[in-house]
Amino acid sequence: MSKIATLEVDGKKYEFPIIEGTENELGIDIKALRGATDGIITIDPGYKNTGSCESAITYLDGEQGILRYRGYAIEDLAEKADFLEVAYLLIFGELPTKAQLEKFDTDIKAESHVDEEMKKILDGFPKTAHPMGVLSSLTSALIAFNPTSVDVDSEEAMYNAIVKIMAKFPVLAAWTMRKRLSLPLDYGDSSLGYVENLHKMMFSKPNKSYEANKIVNDALDKLLILHADHEQNCSTSTVRIVGSSHAGLFASLSAGISALWGPLHGGANQAVLEMLEAIKEDGGDTKKYMGKAKDKEDPFRLMGFGHRVYKNFDPRAKIIKVSANEVLSNLGVQDPILDIAKGLEQEALNDDYFVKRKLYPNVDFYSGIIYRAMGIPVEMFTVMFALGRLPGWIAQWKEMRMRKEPIGRPRQIYTGANHREFEDIKNR
Ligand code: ACO
Repeated sequence: MSKIATLEVDGKKYEFPIIEGTENELGIDIKALRGATDGIITIDPGYKNTGSCESAITYLDGEQGILRYRGYAIEDLAEKADFLEVAYLLIFGELPTKAQLEKFDTDIKAESHVDEEMKKILDGFPKTAHPMGVLSSLTSALIAFNPTSVDVDSEEAMYNAIVKIMAKFPVLAAWTMRKRLSLPLDYGDSSLGYVENLHKMMFSKPNKSYEANKIVNDALDKLLILHADHEQNCSTSTVRIVGSSHAGLFASLSAGISALWGPLHGGANQAVLEMLEAIKEDGGDTKKYMGKAKDKEDPFRLMGFGHRVYKNFDPRAKIIKVSANEVLSNLGVQDPILDIAKGLEQEALNDDYFVKRKLYPNVDFYSGIIYRAMGIPVEMFTVMFALGRLPGWIAQWKEMRMRKEPIGRPRQIYTGANHREFEDIKNR
């Protein structure tokens, strides 16, 4: 029997159906609330209790630390699949056959050129521009070179648009980094796999042939998989809401990149490294910073700890912690920053304040450490996150358009002045 929720306002009762998801999650369907109650709405800043959609892409149980893409455990995908396979799974709903994956790969390679004129746009940015701003702008600029909007009712048109952005996005991201490092732009090598090619495009030197490091590329592949989707987070919700106005895929992605940029979301991996640097500069006293994080008068927060949804160990953090150790020992990195990170982790895991509030290290606590060991500039960390999140954003945008969701347009409770008479400027 379907469940019903009853709401009572001033003695009058209203009934609302309860929707049940495939993992038995329950949601009160309040679509009829405003109409039935003569204008009453719900208030939920930060949407902690609000489901914006039904989705069949990613399941996450923050209390138990479970993350699955299309039903597959993140642990299995990180161990057994590669990033392109996971991208296909997220976007099209099923793991690809060998032939489907080869076609996806070949089609992406065929689209991996970026119009030469895009370079002029890149040139227009100062070298010091933040890579996330550059990447968001370049993604938006791609529209000028691909002006036809996607016909969402055509499977072929959808597929072509998806392949285009999967192909060009890593080129733009790599170019963003090369500009910052004053390196000539690299066009990649279509004989390489997706992630290896990305690594080459970022790190190749003009006077040296590129040599792949398997441990580094495997870790990069894993990092991209771990970041590939995370249901209705801030940037994904942004992509869906921008797309809900029927703005195109690239425009919606560009907005998602901007949302990801913030330090409370994807910018956290950069913030983690900057925090560790600051602690090192200040003498490496982790206890002092633990104290600051717990002091309610102090705005300082321990970056890389806590998560809106995970109130348990972030399953991605567990996987990436192992990769971080592998990469660091393979590259022979000795870094005092890492000792500070390990110290903070141990103290936080044993500290009452953190334990009580279920504040565990999140994926960004470790990803920044790996990126630093790989030689990626700190300002590029969030770009790495965006590279991983791309298939998730695409999948969510596609799902939203295919389900013909209405435009996202929340309500508010107005708390400003009541009607006032206009005062002429000379009397004010
Ligand atoms: N350091 C110290 N205290 C913290 C931290 C932290 N990193 N995170 C949360 N708290 C405390 C809060 O002060 C609050 O304490 P109180 O109950 O005494 O008031 C309590 O824990 C709950 O915190 P909220 O901010 O209400 O939790 P919310 O779910 O809104 O925020 C967030 C989650 C934004 C991730 C937060 O934990 C944070 O700011 N962390 C640091 C930034 C970070 O690492 N962000 C990356 C997120 S992961 C990602 O985007 C991929």
